[in-house]
Amino acid sequence: MAGATGAVGVHVVAALAERGVEVVPLTRGAGVDLLTGSGLDGRLDGCDAVVDVASVQTLRTKQAVEYFTRSTENLLAAEAASGVGHHLALSIVGIDGAEVGYYAGKVAQERAVVGGSIPWTILRATQFHEFADQLRARGRLGPVIVVPTMTIQPVAAVEVGAALADAVLAGPSGRIPDLAGPRVEQLADLVRRCERAPGARTPVFSVPMPRLIMRTSGLLAGPGARLGKVSFDEWLAGRTRD
Ligand SMILES: NC(=O)c1ccc[n+]([C@@H]2O[C@H](COP(=O)([O-])OP(=O)(O)OC[C@H]3O[C@@H](n4cnc5c(N)ncnc54)[C@H](OP(=O)(O)O)[C@@H]3O)[C@@H](O)[C@H]2O)c1
Repeated sequence: MAGATGAVGVHVVAALAERGVEVVPLTRGAGVDLLTGSGLDGRLDGCDAVVDVASVQTLRTKQAVEYFTRSTENLLAAEAASGVGHHLALSIVGIDGAEVGYYAGKVAQERAVVGGSIPWTILRATQFHEFADQLRARGRLGPVIVVPTMTIQPVAAVEVGAALADAVLAGPSGRIPDLAGPRVEQLADLVRRCERAPGARTPVFSVPMPRLIMRTSGLLAGPGARLGKVSFDEWLAGRTRD
């Protein structure tokens, strides 16, 4: 599994284990660099499916497109060499037509998967509840936190992990219904709610980044999407208790 240690990767691993599926981790920590393909030789022998939930931290178009294109091509070539019959990729709701930033990389990833020779499944999800925490850490600028202005419909990564594990067992299915969270939220509000935890009260500001981040409601669930059950506040309460 590519990205086995990431925000959603840990939940995919746990959900697959619950379903009795053995997982081979494909991360740099486990000696595999998807960007160069090093460490992939023979690693997929005996595998039935590859789930790709790896990622790169960038808003730069060139870097995002290069990462998602190369990593997908390297995975697909290794899958072909090892006789793997199912490639699953996790993508993002609403990325159609994105030409810049991280989302352009996701468009390139989907294109490589669909145009590749391995039977595939693509699940698009909205931003995870964990996304607020990821941007809270990445947006820290001295005494403040700055995040992009975004209207999102966040979903719990644990529910995305379960959906991907089910998709592994279902076999190649093409684009399956999008998965979104139960409520529409403002990203800056979510980061502020994270900051209400004891000892964490950094001021949070949001700035419009219309070129790099999707316009207004473009990231919300469309018709036919499945909705997760866990709200952001329920997720936050569970995390605070842990
Ligand atoms: N975050 C969201 O809100 C969200 C929403 C919808 C969809 N998605 C999609 O879900 C996927 C996972 O996102 P995430 O936020 O869970 O990612 P993440 O927490 O940033 O984790 C990234 C994972 O990728 C691995 N990785 C990174 N570069 C690698 C490389 N060159 N070679 C091998 N492994 C590499 C990392 O392990 P090492 O560091 O050990 O290599 C880690 O396991 C992405 O495709 C993303 O677009 C994310």
